[in-house]
Order: sequence, then C-alpha cells, then structure tokens
Amino acid sequence: MKIPPFTLERYFAKHEFSAKYLLSSSDCESMTLPQLLEMASPQMRTKWESLSFGYTESVGHPLLRAEAAKIYAGLGAENLLIAAPEEIIFLFMHALLQPGDHVIATFPGYQSLYEIARSVGCQVSTWEPVEAENWHFDLARLAELIRPETKLVVANFPHNPTGFIPSQKEYADLIEMLREKGIFLFSDEMYRFLEIESGATLPSACEAYERAFSLFGMSKTFGLPGLRIGWMATQNQPLLARMLELKDYTTICSSAPSEILSIIALQNKEAIIAKQNARLAQNMALLDAFIAKYAQFFRLNRPRGGSICFPRMLGEESTLGFANRLVEEAGVMMAPSHIFGYSDHHFRIGFGRENFGEVLGKFGDYLDSNH
Ligand SMILES: Cc1ncc(COP(=O)(O)O)c(C=O)c1O
Repeated sequence: MKIPPFTLERYFAKHEFSAKYLLSSSDCESMTLPQLLEMASPQMRTKWESLSFGYTESVGHPLLRAEAAKIYAGLGAENLLIAAPEEIIFLFMHALLQPGDHVIATFPGYQSLYEIARSVGCQVSTWEPVEAENWHFDLARLAELIRPETKLVVANFPHNPTGFIPSQKEYADLIEMLREKGIFLFSDEMYRFLEIESGATLPSACEAYERAFSLFGMSKTFGLPGLRIGWMATQNQPLLARMLELKDYTTICSSAPSEILSIIALQNKEAIIAKQNARLAQNMALLDAFIAKYAQFFRLNRPRGGSICFPRMLGEESTLGFANRLVEEAGVMMAPSHIFGYSDHHFRIGFGRENFGEVLGKFGDYLDSNH
C-alpha cells in the first residue's frame, strides 16, 4: 500500500501543540476527567473505579454498542463496531473496495475519505460544491459523476470544512439515487447534532438506506477526541464482520478506559450536546461580528452545521503564506485550504472552543497592525 502523507494532520502536528492560539480546530471544547465523571451514574462510577486494563472485546464493549445504538432508529448493538473514527474509515475502505472500483467523494474534505480508496487502487472522482451557492453540493453534479462501475459514494454532512448540510429532501433524493443504482454510501456523520437551524439534522444514512455505513463518535460533537472512540453503524452485517477481521491488524480492540468514559458521555448526551451547541451559537455570533468588521478581507458562506466553516480570503496572497506568517508572528494557527488540496484562498475556522473570542481577538489585532 502506497499512501501519501495526510496533509492536514501533518500541518496540525507541526503547530497544534506549539502555537498559542488555535483558530482552526474542528473539535468542540473538551472536558476534564473530573467533569465527565461527575456526570456518571453510580453504576458507571463503580465500573470506572473497578476497571482493570485487560484486552477488551474486539467489536466493542457491549454496553457502549448498546448506548451508541440508541442514536439510530431501528438499529441495535449488533449493528455497531467500535474503533477510532479514523481507523473506521481505514477499515471500511479496505473491507469494501477492490482495485479498479470507482468511488465518488465530497471534496474538499477530510483526506482519508478519498485517499485510502486511491491507495487501494480505486479511481476517485470528486464531488465539489458551488461556492457561489453557499457551498451547495448539487445532486445533478453527482448524477453526472456516476458511472456503471461506481461502487461507493462518500459523503460528509455536516461537511468539513464548509459546514454545508443538504435539505431533508435533497438527502432523501441522494439516497434514492444510490438505491436505484445499488451504490454503497459511506456517510461521515462526525459533526451530526451540531446543526445550526432546528430541523436540519438529517436522518442517519444507516437508518434510511440498507447499503449505507454511518460514521460517528466522541471526537467532534462530544468534544472528546482524546478518547479515540467512534463507531460504524450499518444494517450490512457481512461488511461489519469483514471490518472486524481487519481490526485484528490495526488495534485489535479499543482502549478499556476510553470505552467506559464514552459510555458515561453517551448516557449524558443531551446535556453535553446542548452545551456544545450553546457555545457554538455564541461563537458564531462573535464570528459574524468579526467578519462584518473585516469585510474587506474575508467573504464567508455561513455554515449550516458543524463546528467549522471555510471563509475565502480576498486579495492575492495565498492563505498558506498568510497562515505561516500569522503563526510565526502572532502565535495564531489557522488551517489554510492548501492542506485540503483545494484553492489557495480559503482557510478553515473552527468555532467550537471556549477561547474562540480570545483567539479571534488576537487574529483581529494581527490584521489591524499589518494592514
Ligand atoms: C470529517 C471527519 N471525519 C473523520 C475524522 C476523524 O476523526 P478522529 O480524528 O477522531 O479519528 C475527522 C477529524 O477531523 C473529520 O473531520
């Protein structure tokens, strides 16, 4: 397997733990261990305190699968496999795809969603949004990309990095289009439940379509990426079984403490998600004011969901050059669109963190003193 470096992850590895202010992180604010344990029921507290560090069940802790399955109408614990989210993408692509298969993926996007398929020897077409139409992913464009040998469509809504979400009708039409042609759907739902407009939450693909595979986990919506816990939910048992066989070659099983802590988080999902959404709304208001103030520098299509958005920087300078100056001179790390392999004039903003106002302030100070 030949696979190129993951450009975004390498860029984050370079700056994430040295830059003082992070403007582009995609995850929501995290919690400390005591904060999470405070939410635990007496039974879960006991499980935590009596935890031993043996291997865990390869498919995932039964209670974790059951708790996570409650998110999906009509699916049960048997429909879920636990692994780190990034690992799930890897396992899935290797379980489903063969050299020569045709895959269509939303783009720009999280690199593994298309790169792993390429490394398997698939032909990958990119389904790109229309910036002038608020980053709309057009179904007519997708229909043009479909070929007789298309095996898989990879979609990610709410979309990283634009925050686009299709309407309920468009999403139903997408699934109908794939069902008619028997095409599989990998639906990366890592930012689900962070929709800005009420009613914008889409059904999970795995509920709506028998050939769909839904990815979700603790990293973004819950703000617990360090647990490294996610899951694949699907009605397709043979694919899950194959992924489980492959997991023996990656991590074998998930981390015992992370599984227990994830169960606690899932049992408190309403409270955790409501808090994240309240913070996102506050931060979005700060961002709106910032963009209005610096309108000569930026144009933003407001996201419909998620904790990220993808403004365009006006002018000639590449956002890569600008981002390098910004981190060196002001300690503010921004993710330029170059790391998505897409344009030189956009960058990602992440607005899920508690210190977002402070980081925007530093960014504004930099703009004020350099223009
Ligand atoms: C769209 C998307 N999918 C998957 C992942 C992978 O999640 P994790 O880093 O928790 O493995 C990310 C992380 O940024 C993401 O943005």
